[in-house]
Amino acid sequence: MDTNKPSIKPAFSVDAPSSQYLVYAENGLLDELGNILKTQGVDGTVYIISDSNVWSSHGEQVVTSLNRGDLESKVFTVDAGEATKSLSTANQLYEWLASERCERKSTLMALGGGMIGDLTGFVAATFLRGIPFIQIPTSLSAMVDASIGGKTAVNLSSGKNLVGAFYQPKLVLADLNTLRTLPTRELASGWAEAIKHGLILDSNLFYMFEENHNGLINLEPDLTRSIVQRSMEIKGKIVEQDEKETTGLRMLLNYGHTIGHALESVTNYSSFLHGEAVSVGMIAAGKISVSMGLLSNKDLDRYTNVLTNYGLPTSCPSIDPDSVLNAIQMDKKVKDKKINWILLREIGHSFVSSTVDDRVVQDTIKDICS
Ligand SMILES: NC(=O)c1ccc[n+]([C@@H]2O[C@H](COP(=O)([O-])OP(=O)(O)OC[C@H]3O[C@@H](n4cnc5c(N)ncnc54)[C@H](O)[C@@H]3O)[C@@H](O)[C@H]2O)c1
Ligand SMILES: [Zn+2]
Repeated sequence: MDTNKPSIKPAFSVDAPSSQYLVYAENGLLDELGNILKTQGVDGTVYIISDSNVWSSHGEQVVTSLNRGDLESKVFTVDAGEATKSLSTANQLYEWLASERCERKSTLMALGGGMIGDLTGFVAATFLRGIPFIQIPTSLSAMVDASIGGKTAVNLSSGKNLVGAFYQPKLVLADLNTLRTLPTRELASGWAEAIKHGLILDSNLFYMFEENHNGLINLEPDLTRSIVQRSMEIKGKIVEQDEKETTGLRMLLNYGHTIGHALESVTNYSSFLHGEAVSVGMIAAGKISVSMGLLSNKDLDRYTNVLTNYGLPTSCPSIDPDSVLNAIQMDKKVKDKKINWILLREIGHSFVSSTVDDRVVQDTIKDICS
C-alpha cells in the first residue's frame, strides 16, 4: 500500500471555459497538503504568501506538511488587513520572487483570507506573464467566495479592486479546521455569503442553514464540511457558466451588495465587516422584493431569523438613510447609470431587475435605518 497516497478526495471540480480545477474542502486537510500537491503534479519550489495572523496560526503546519510531500517552500508574510492589498505590496512580492529566481514552473500559494487570495492571484497572473497559483483559503468568506472564480485584484486609493485580472487557480484546498482560529465576527461575516448562496439559488441549502445553526456556529466537523462544500459548489457552478461576468448569472452573487456596499462606504469601511453589511443589504433587498409583491413576508421573516441566528445584523439604526441613498446614487453615476437590483421571488429563486421604483428604495432604506 502506498502510504503517501492522500485519503482526502476532491469535493468537486470547477470546469470554467479558461481552465478546470479541483476544489477540496475537508477537516484536517493541511496535514495532507504535501501529499495532495504531489499527487496533483506540483513540483519545484512552492512560494507561500500569507498574512501575519494566518501565518502565526497555521504556517508551521503548512511547511511541515509540504516537507512530508518532499516540496521545498519559501515564505513571504505581509501585514494582515485590507490596506496591504495594494500595488506597492505586489511590487514587493515581484522583487522577492525575482530575487528568489522564481520560475514559470514554480507555484505560488495563497495561504489566508480573501485579501491574500486576491493579492497572490494578481501577482501570479502578472509575474513572468503568469505562473500557477494555489488557493488555501483560511477564512470562511474566502472559502465560499473569494478563492473560487479567478477574480484577482489589488486596490487603488481611488477604489477597491480597480486593478486586476481574471486568472483561475490550479487548485483550491480548504481545511475547515482553520476556521477554529478565525475571530467570531469574521466567521459570522463568512456565513452571510454562504447563506446568500442558498437564498439566491438553492432553497435546500438555505433550509440546512436554518435547521443546523447551532452545529454550524460551533463548527461541528461533518456538518460544516457538507454545508460549506455545498455553498462553495454553488459559487463554482456560477463561475462555470459565467466566468467573466458576461451572461448576467454571476451578477446574482451581488444579492444584498448594492446597499451593503453603500453601508460600507458611508462608514468608511470601519463599522461593518463585509458580510455584516451584506446581511443588512440582503434584508433590504428582501424588503424591496416584498414591496414589489414578489417575496412573501413569511419568507423574509424566515431568513431574517436565520441571519440573526448566525450573529449577523439585520438593520443599521445608527446610519443616516440619506447618506446611504447618496452613496447608491454615486455608485450609479460611476457605473452605467442604472442599478441592477438582485431580487428574490422566493427563497432559492433570484433574478436581476433594473426597474425598481426610487420610492420603494427610499422607503426601504428608511426602514432598515430606523
Ligand atoms: N476574488 C473574489 O471573488 C472576492 C470575493 C469576495 C471578496 N474578495 C476580497 O476578499 C477580501 C476579504 O476577504 P476576507 O473576508 O477573508 O478578509 P481577510 O483576508 O482580510 O481576512 C480577515 C481577517 O481574518 C484573518 N484570518 C483569516 N483566516 C484566519 C484564520 N484561519 N485564523 C485567524 N485569522 C484569520 C486575517 O488575518 C484578517 O485579519 C477583500 O479584499 C475582498 O475584496 C474577493
Ligand atoms: Zn460579498
